[in-house]
Amino acid sequence: MNVVAKSTNLSPFLKTTATVVTNGPLRVSSGIGASFLAVQRRLAHTDVKWPDFSAYRQESVLDPKSKSRESAPARKTFSYLLTASVGICGAYTAKAIVHDLVSTLSASADVLALAKIEVKLDSIPEGKSAVFKWRGKPVFIRHRSAREIAKEAEVDVASLRDPQSDVDRVRNPQWLVVLGVCTHLGCVPIANAGDYGGYYCPCHGSHYDASGRIRKGPAPLNLEVPFYQFLDENTLIIG
Ligand code: FES
Repeated sequence: MNVVAKSTNLSPFLKTTATVVTNGPLRVSSGIGASFLAVQRRLAHTDVKWPDFSAYRQESVLDPKSKSRESAPARKTFSYLLTASVGICGAYTAKAIVHDLVSTLSASADVLALAKIEVKLDSIPEGKSAVFKWRGKPVFIRHRSAREIAKEAEVDVASLRDPQSDVDRVRNPQWLVVLGVCTHLGCVPIANAGDYGGYYCPCHGSHYDASGRIRKGPAPLNLEVPFYQFLDENTLIIG
């Protein structure tokens, strides 16, 4: 049997092949790679270069024949060290950011300087009450006489609207330190006035005694005692 074939390329992929078989019918076939005589083309792009990651790989696993199990401990140590370093750097950065943020929100140096005031007590004669400004509020410092101290100590605490004994309101009985803000609606009371000889608020008629306790009128609470301490016998720090 004699075979004669003719191949026609309709496109790079589609081929038509006519096969003539002597002493037989003409056969025509068409399709991809239809011809048994046609040379198929490979479409693999062998010219594309694979990226080389050798520079990023650890030396111990560069050799494809080496067993990764053998170098695992060393590589894990490296990974742990790297993770720990990144963690420490991250924690330090976070701490610095939080510290800066809190510093921004906290009071400035000039505000902190006003947070405390120092008072020289020898400038206040016995029986007198002086007014000082502290954090924008008036503070009364009263140099109490022995008679006032004894009088306030005798008061029946149970009879008070805001029960508080005199010793609980002073660090040194000679000195009474209270905020000069009426606990009713915030007026500034007058010293050495009122029915009890302590402080009197003229706004609505509240009377405080020489311990700053409310005794009469609409005010619900005693005058507030701020935080203070004696630096020495003659110096008082408020705040
Ligand atoms: S504000 Fe002092 S009595 Fe009203």
